[in-house]
Amino acid sequence: MIGKNGQLGWELNRTLAPLGSLEALDYPEINLAIPDSIADTLRRVKPDLIINAAAYTDVDKAEDEPQIALAVNGEAPARLAEIASDLGSVLVHYSTDYVFDGSKGEPYNESDRVNPINVYGRSKLKGEQAILESGCACFILRTSWVYSLRRESFVTKVLDWSRKKDILNIVSDQVGSPTWARMLAEITAQMLATAGEDFANWAHQHQGTYHLAGSGAVSRFKWAQAILELDPNKKEQKARDIQPALTADFPTPARRPLYTALDCRQFISGFNIKIPEWKSSLALAMYDQSQLGKE
Ligand SMILES: NC(=O)c1ccc[n+]([C@@H]2O[C@H](COP(=O)([O-])OP(=O)(O)OC[C@H]3O[C@@H](n4cnc5c(N)ncnc54)[C@H](OP(=O)(O)O)[C@@H]3O)[C@@H](O)[C@H]2O)c1
Repeated sequence: MIGKNGQLGWELNRTLAPLGSLEALDYPEINLAIPDSIADTLRRVKPDLIINAAAYTDVDKAEDEPQIALAVNGEAPARLAEIASDLGSVLVHYSTDYVFDGSKGEPYNESDRVNPINVYGRSKLKGEQAILESGCACFILRTSWVYSLRRESFVTKVLDWSRKKDILNIVSDQVGSPTWARMLAEITAQMLATAGEDFANWAHQHQGTYHLAGSGAVSRFKWAQAILELDPNKKEQKARDIQPALTADFPTPARRPLYTALDCRQFISGFNIKIPEWKSSLALAMYDQSQLGKE
């Protein structure tokens, strides 16, 4: 598994461990911006399964560093796919709701037209396309609005702002499907566990692109309201009010697609796995954080 220090990678590392022998990598063992470092390491490990949770995820910085974003999100997955083909390994790779332009106005399914509107989205789409073209057995899991409480995320930022500001202004015109990194890791593990004995055959039968995100859709504003409501340390909140704002009020280097909720029915029916509603995962994530250090 690549990207063990990221939000998702950290959760995958602990969730996948019971399923088999797992080698988890990140900097400096592997640098996705340097293709040879990938090849050398993977040819040494010879895995049955390669899971790529690493990515260049700084959406705004990607506008200034398009070559690096493209190397990590576009070219490295191509190399991973090529190596997976050579080794006969299965590749699980994560992609993003930002491959869409956000104009559909209802949840996107896997056959909807892609049209990324920023560098990050374009670089991730390149990665998807290269993997599919390689012909390796692959699962491309498009997810969205990933958060954990271990690394900086929208959830940790809202909690932090609530301790510092009197009034929070949060955009209400961006709608998506918040996804707890642990839920994503656990559902990935459940998906892999449906394979049974003949893993390669199962992979060939089920491979493809799937949407996998927290169930339901919500605006960032309503998501922030839920974060404050479920905050286990509400007494620390200084914020007295939270007000809706517009994306246009907060200019950022990268344009954001406005509506990117994902329709995950293909995943749910393909693997017979239920996906929890975004708010119940958020409640669990908050509870989990509140228990840290108590045992
Ligand atoms: N976060 C979101 O809202 C979101 C939304 C939709 C899809 N996704 C996708 O979901 C997946 C997991 O995202 P995440 O939120 O867990 O990301 P994350 O927390 O940013 O973690 C990404 C990991 O990749 C590592 N990485 C970056 N550049 C690398 C390189 N050149 N070589 C090796 N490792 C490198 C990072 O290391 P450093 O920390 O040292 O940079 C980090 O450990 C990614 O494919 C992402 O595109 C994320």
